Amino acid sequence: MTQDELFKVLVAHCKEYGFIFPSSEIYDGLAAVYDYGQMGVELKNNIKAYWWNAMTRLNENIVGIDSCIFMHPRIWEASGHVGAFNDPLIDNKDSKKRYRADVLIEDFLCKIEEKINKEVAKGRKKFGDSFDEVQFRATNPNVLREQKKYDEVHNRYVAAEKANDLAEYKNIIVDNGIVCPISGTCNWTDVRQFNLMFSTSMGSTSEGANIIYLRPETAQGIFVNYLNVQKTGRMKLPFGIAQIGKAFRNEIVARQFIFRMREFEQMEMQFFIKPGTELEWFRKWKETRMKWHVNLGMGAENYRFHDHEKLAHYANAATDVEFQFPFGFKELEGIHSRTDFDLGNHQKFSGKKIQYFDPETGESYVPYVIETSIGVDRMVLAVLSHSYKEEKLENGETRVVLGIPAPLAPVKAAVLPLLKNNEDLVNLAQSIMDDLKYDFNCQYDEKDSIGKRYRRQDAIGTPFCITVDHDSLQDNCVTVRERDTMTQKRVPIAELRSIIDKEVNMNNLLRNLK
Ligand code: GAP
Repeated sequence: MTQDELFKVLVAHCKEYGFIFPSSEIYDGLAAVYDYGQMGVELKNNIKAYWWNAMTRLNENIVGIDSCIFMHPRIWEASGHVGAFNDPLIDNKDSKKRYRADVLIEDFLCKIEEKINKEVAKGRKKFGDSFDEVQFRATNPNVLREQKKYDEVHNRYVAAEKANDLAEYKNIIVDNGIVCPISGTCNWTDVRQFNLMFSTSMGSTSEGANIIYLRPETAQGIFVNYLNVQKTGRMKLPFGIAQIGKAFRNEIVARQFIFRMREFEQMEMQFFIKPGTELEWFRKWKETRMKWHVNLGMGAENYRFHDHEKLAHYANAATDVEFQFPFGFKELEGIHSRTDFDLGNHQKFSGKKIQYFDPETGESYVPYVIETSIGVDRMVLAVLSHSYKEEKLENGETRVVLGIPAPLAPVKAAVLPLLKNNEDLVNLAQSIMDDLKYDFNCQYDEKDSIGKRYRRQDAIGTPFCITVDHDSLQDNCVTVRERDTMTQKRVPIAELRSIIDKEVNMNNLLRNLK
């Protein structure tokens, strides 16, 4: 199966098993908006708990807040979103389709890279063990030609991006014959900026109503509460404020399922520090966040940093944590050193003094900030795409299993009486269920054969299946079947809680972060 096919299968699986549904489906859906079903919400809540506890419980100097989606419209002027939160858009006059000009160019660059990689792969196949990739790239005429083209386009693109030169974006597209995938023509409009914020109005009459925005990031809710938290919590620098909440962006190129949505959720933490210490803290947070990811056991090789060459005007260091999604390495989390840009601007725009009095030095200053910002939905996609497996079994059948890290699994254990019409088996299974449900999210299932019930639980990633059989009535033992290995063990009912807890307890995951 190609990665493309795998991705389609995963999207269908998410719907079939109650993880993710297209929003408003009975009205034919709403583009780039998705709802979480009964399994999806459990997975999402577990991811949020892992992040929230890692931030606020493990760090005595990080506290959480929950600010509102609606905020004073001046906030978005101060943050720069009204003026600069734009995408460069271009329309094809024949197909009437709209694209992001930067994405068209980046896709073009990716295609050149793919051509180069194909040439390299051919060379490797031809020369076998004696293949020297560096020499091949430096001498092969096809690679050199494509690399020259790549460098030319890339240099022009970086310069246009830096200068915010929209006309040059169009020139690059036209000069390189980049066509619309629908019409196949190069008949493009000029490139223009499009603001990504959704707006609505607040107030009872149309005359008196104010335009307000749905927040495009949760971060500003933290900045405008900096003084409140610092004072009421008597916080001393360095300290952090964490928040989980919804954000909204009118994404034009909204694709790849829940990777890029118009309504999504962020987990953001702003860490306030003394100016001059930011690069040290930036390094520390890069390390800390990578550890959090790798700790889930989804393979260190599936993550990498992508340090930004071009920095936003307010940042003096920035990196993305990229994850290997089925469509390649893409941004999962951003870590930014934001200087005093946000607090400084809120001080200017609000007229309120936002400063920290440092008791050690006797100085007052606007703190600097290191931000860590991760999308909950992207994290859900990372977990699901990594977990989905189709395995060939010894009997020739195929099983679909979600190998979700056990502490994140939506259902931790399924309790299955061997027969549904045997009152004794059903009663014992129900009593086990009633006992375990206070500690774990469990499912009781008595329908169909045991084999079919195992498959259903594999498909939603349940780490343990507990089967109650006739012997259980005599020996007070049950069969515990483990999801990944499919091994079965006979264990006393009294030991069930500790067996499950050992694998699924989130605190064990958190302890490894030390
Ligand atoms: N406060 C900084 C900020 O918002 P960002 O890089 O624009 O930075 C942070 O967003 C994270 O939010 C991204 O790394 C990604 O995980 C998530 N994210 C951003 N836009 C998204 C979208 N349209 N759909 C889903 N997740 C998104």
